[in-house]
Amino acid sequence: MKQVICSIATTEKQISACYPLMYQLRPNLAHSEFIARVLHQQKYGYQLLQAICGKTISGVAGFSIGHKLAWGKHMYVDDLITDTEQRSMGIGAVMLKWLENNALQQGCGQLHLDSGVQRFAAHKFYLREGFEISSHHFAKSLCSIE
Ligand SMILES: CC(C)(COP(=O)(O)OP(=O)(O)OC[C@H]1O[C@@H](n2cnc3c(N)ncnc32)[C@H](O)[C@@H]1OP(=O)(O)O)[C@@H](O)C(=O)NCCC(=O)NCCS
Repeated sequence: MKQVICSIATTEKQISACYPLMYQLRPNLAHSEFIARVLHQQKYGYQLLQAICGKTISGVAGFSIGHKLAWGKHMYVDDLITDTEQRSMGIGAVMLKWLENNALQQGCGQLHLDSGVQRFAAHKFYLREGFEISSHHFAKSLCSIE
């Protein structure tokens, strides 16, 4: 595997460059909406990690630092994806290690994420990387019926 360099995409140009990868995970998100939402979420602590292999963005992950009575100071990871053509090369593991180190540097005691029940391969990956399945996640749509 080529060297993987992880960094935070901060500018609109850098965020835009992450779109083709994020589109693989969130195909319902249009390019302009993706940029607007990342810029908005950044105001509330969201950060976008990019994993660069050579000149290519090979993986992205969103994350934020939060505080909860249950978890204390923690990092929450969402939107983790490796380019479909570059899976099983260790890029996901490099991103998770970077996130774990960053969480530790910021004084977080825990790393959390949700993964859709259908994502069996991702579950295998998280279990391999030392995660435990610690809860069931419940969600209720609040969209009004017209
Ligand atoms: C889960 C994911 C981020 C792992 O990234 P990665 O760069 O392939 O990770 P690594 O190379 O470090 O580890 C690969 C392991 O992940 C697992 N894996 C999960 N999905 C996989 C896929 N589609 N193809 C290959 N391996 C996959 C396997 O256990 C694999 O181990 P193996 O290579 O020994 O079979 C990546 O597969 C992915 O983007 N999946 C689709 C999006 C997704 O489900 N994201 C998680 C949302 S919660």
